Amino acid sequence: MKMDRSCNAQRFFWRALVLFLSLPAHQALSSKSARALNNTVSAFIVFGDSTVDPGNNNNLRTMFKSDFLPYGRDFANRVPTGRFTNGRLATDYIVSYIGIKDYVPAYLEPSLSFEDMKSGVSFASAGSGYDPMTPTLSNVVSLPQQLEYFKEYKKRLMSTMGNQSTIQHINKAVFLVSAGTNDFVVNYFTIPIRQRSFTIATYQQFLLQHVKDLIKGLWEEGARRIAVAGLPPMGCLPIMISLNSNSAVLQRGCMDQYSSVARDYNALLQTELASMQSSLANQGSRIYYADIYKPISDMILRFPSYGFDEALSGCCGTGLLEAAFLCNPNSYVCPDASKYVFWDSIHPTEKAYYLIFQLLRPIVNALIQD
Ligand SMILES: *[C@@H]1O[C@H](CO)[C@@H](O)[C@H](O)[C@H]1NC(C)=O
Ligand SMILES: *[C@@H]1O[C@H](CO)[C@@H](O)[C@H](O)[C@H]1NC(C)=O
Repeated sequence: MKMDRSCNAQRFFWRALVLFLSLPAHQALSSKSARALNNTVSAFIVFGDSTVDPGNNNNLRTMFKSDFLPYGRDFANRVPTGRFTNGRLATDYIVSYIGIKDYVPAYLEPSLSFEDMKSGVSFASAGSGYDPMTPTLSNVVSLPQQLEYFKEYKKRLMSTMGNQSTIQHINKAVFLVSAGTNDFVVNYFTIPIRQRSFTIATYQQFLLQHVKDLIKGLWEEGARRIAVAGLPPMGCLPIMISLNSNSAVLQRGCMDQYSSVARDYNALLQTELASMQSSLANQGSRIYYADIYKPISDMILRFPSYGFDEALSGCCGTGLLEAAFLCNPNSYVCPDASKYVFWDSIHPTEKAYYLIFQLLRPIVNALIQD
């Protein structure tokens, strides 16, 4: 009986959600003038990997780039900005929902104006991770270096706005960190070096120590409202299925041995963040876990109810392996990316990012309200 009711409640919840999500984007999103919950958030500042990188790698010597078509095919003016998707990222939807601006720009974008920088930037770098070794594999910006860039950002604000208003500005900003997938997918599962010195369990602890250090660093620089995203169901990434499954082409299915690593890590992360939050709550902290596992996993499991036709291969190329330079102007591209959960073999489509944003809204609301 009890089971029945919770099952019905769940069904109702998903139905309501799907109904809500099928509203046109412009109805669900606030425009610049309307701030969600009338918030007074000063800026939205982002750290991490390709899931939140709007183009910081464009001028780096790395293979982890996407500043060419078909990336950006559905972005405003079809610009391949360096975002690893066909259009906007979840962080673009978030900053637009907060009511600050329409996109989160890359901090390393040379033409970035002071005002655009001030109201929020992303320091994220595709290919990066918490393990200090991960960004060295692809020659991208490590998380400690992203924190250094943030300190430089603060100095630039201080020299223009003065110290006191910069400190207030940072206190009223919302921070998001999204990383960790590359530590497993590019590093631990692929290259044997880390497997020699760490079990999966000790590697998870090792990564969490780095998450803690990063949050401590942000806290010391004045960040107070911080969301940290967990890992997606890694065993459902098209590239993981293609490289590791016995039947990668004909009978594709998620590989739970990789997703279960993500679930374990997410549980530990959640505990760690809750403990940081409770020890800092009296100093005004809002440190929250942002779950992306459930939204992505539900989109894959029940893809038709979200309007998707394909859940386990990407829109670009064969959809099985291509990402970064392998997904390029010569690649076959599916006509309608909104029918796909994945854009390339690793990264969600704009539509999937929009759905992720919608499902993160309760956390965003908790972060932005006064
Ligand atoms: C936001 O402000 C408007 C105008 O002052 C008010 O009508 C509205 O109820 C407010 N919304 C919230 C969620 O506080
Ligand atoms: C502002 O802060 C910086 C760095 O913390 C410090 O070096 C500088 O002296 C401060 N300036 C003023 C006017 O207090």
